[in-house]
Amino acid sequence: MKCKFAGHNIEPFMSFGKMPIANGFLKKKEFNKEFFYDLRVGFSEKFSLFQLDEYPSVKKMFHKNYPFYTSSSKFMIRHFKEYAQWSKKFLKSNSKIIELGSNDGTFLRNFKNTSIDSFGFEPSKNVSDFAKKRGINSINKFFNTTNIKLLKNFEHNTDLICGANVVCHVPNLKDLFTSVEKLLSKEGVFVFEEPYLGAVYEKNSYDQIYDEHIYLFSAIAISKIANEYDLRIIDLIPQSTHGGSMRYVLSRKLSNRQKTKNVNKIISYEKKINLDNAQFCKEFKKNCEKSKKNLKAKLIELKNKNKKICGYAATSKSTTILNYCNIGPDLIDYVTDTTAEKIGKFTPGSHIPIVDHKLFKEKNPDIAVLFAWNHIEEILKKEKKFKNDGGKWLTFFPKIKVQ
Ligand code: TYD
Repeated sequence: MKCKFAGHNIEPFMSFGKMPIANGFLKKKEFNKEFFYDLRVGFSEKFSLFQLDEYPSVKKMFHKNYPFYTSSSKFMIRHFKEYAQWSKKFLKSNSKIIELGSNDGTFLRNFKNTSIDSFGFEPSKNVSDFAKKRGINSINKFFNTTNIKLLKNFEHNTDLICGANVVCHVPNLKDLFTSVEKLLSKEGVFVFEEPYLGAVYEKNSYDQIYDEHIYLFSAIAISKIANEYDLRIIDLIPQSTHGGSMRYVLSRKLSNRQKTKNVNKIISYEKKINLDNAQFCKEFKKNCEKSKKNLKAKLIELKNKNKKICGYAATSKSTTILNYCNIGPDLIDYVTDTTAEKIGKFTPGSHIPIVDHKLFKEKNPDIAVLFAWNHIEEILKKEKKFKNDGGKWLTFFPKIKVQ
């Protein structure tokens, strides 16, 4: 489907080639019916919006077997606890909260056993069911103008609408912002954190580009979009999650909430590195091509030295890397992962076998390519033995490092 938020077709400035669904981990017998599309990206000057040119149907991405559980990372559990703690400054004891893309309930869990009324919208059935089992009010539907009608007394009465890594997944931003406008109370806030275009550009972490991330936002883009609605940015808080994210805090235009100094500071920084115009796209494209060449060359060099190479974590991000760089089982023997839904399957497009993380130590690889590089601290801490036994990590952003 064409991405038309900006109201017209945007000329793509680069293609990452033939791409499968990032989370489309599959069995061998499914190889011949695998779905591919051309992953192209474009930039809307009107909204300073970095976006996919086309995206696959959302039903292909968020379904009954969505293989991502927020709670698979201890760091993310802690992050959501802190996020919930921080958000309490916007809440009263009888406030209402709505979370978009509430996944397995890791965030909303922090409001259990309080007088706060909370609901999460989660379109993927398995994770939504998991949240329900944990006692979360999880609605197994998309957050949109139709489905918000299921909630009683939330209209103009919701003090916190929040999300993490979800707004950039939503093709119909117009409907999403219209829903927020309908629900937010007079002094309510809309808070969301998403992978940040500034970080992607600076680190060249192009693996944030895949089907689910229809947009990569900047503060300038969000400010221009918000301006189309009764919304404005009042705070911006950079986050270390997903290799560099931004927490956007929006209120109604006429709310009494004060704008923090961060807002102008970050917007000025973005203007300085040209995120408000298409100039940076050329540089970004060049950097991606260079990174692709270097990563492939490094893996070939290691393979020629007879190194046993594995991938660590079958992330959605790795689908872009493996397919764009044309890396398959000839270079990476297997990828380890902790998620039951992925183990025993193969990586999308590149068809590298996924094995249980429990076999990581046992199989004793020489090199582990760290696909979950955004969780580097957590992983290095728990895998000290791998290095002590002579293993090396290969990381690739901003530059290739074998350490
Ligand atoms: P993440 O970087 O959050 O994923 P994505 O790119 O898909 O958004 O990583 C989640 C995946 O990584 C998930 O399949 C579990 C796996 N994983 C491990 O196998 N071990 C780990 O220590 C961590 C943190 C994640």
